[in-house]
Amino acid sequence: MKVQFTCNGQPVEVEAAPTARLLDVLREDLRHTGTKEGCGEGECGACTVRIDGKTVMSCLVPIFQVHGTAVQTIEGLGAEVVHPVQAAMLAYGGAQCGICTPGLCLSAAACLEEVSHPSREQIRLALAGNLCRCTGYQKVVDAVAAALGQEPG
Ligand code: FES
Ligand code: FES
Repeated sequence: MKVQFTCNGQPVEVEAAPTARLLDVLREDLRHTGTKEGCGEGECGACTVRIDGKTVMSCLVPIFQVHGTAVQTIEGLGAEVVHPVQAAMLAYGGAQCGICTPGLCLSAAACLEEVSHPSREQIRLALAGNLCRCTGYQKVVDAVAAALGQEPG
């Protein structure tokens, strides 16, 4: 089937099986390889993207559900001006590996848009679906808090 949507503000049309995973369409058809595959089962958050502003695990989204929506990947976050979350991730050492960082940035950006002054607990909750198997979350939470002008905890 033909599926039309916008990806990072650009209209796109792809030909894919209805049940093809959004993750695969993004990586293989559109070459947005910043979206990563970790578990492939909706558990790790490495494949996080935003559809109409909501964070989703793209490994669980069949492409037919994407028709007519607006998708944002990490390539579209701060494409023109560095996003405050990305700047803070760099400044506070929250940018970790290339597998978890894209999803963490997108979840953090969504948190900042959805909650006007999120507490550290709310930040942690917003990032709860993005797992890191090797370091920790303190610097990431510090970075998101810093993007709001809060002092590191
Ligand atoms: S690859 Fe999608 S949640 Fe892990
Ligand atoms: S999974 Fe990315 S730093 Fe641990």
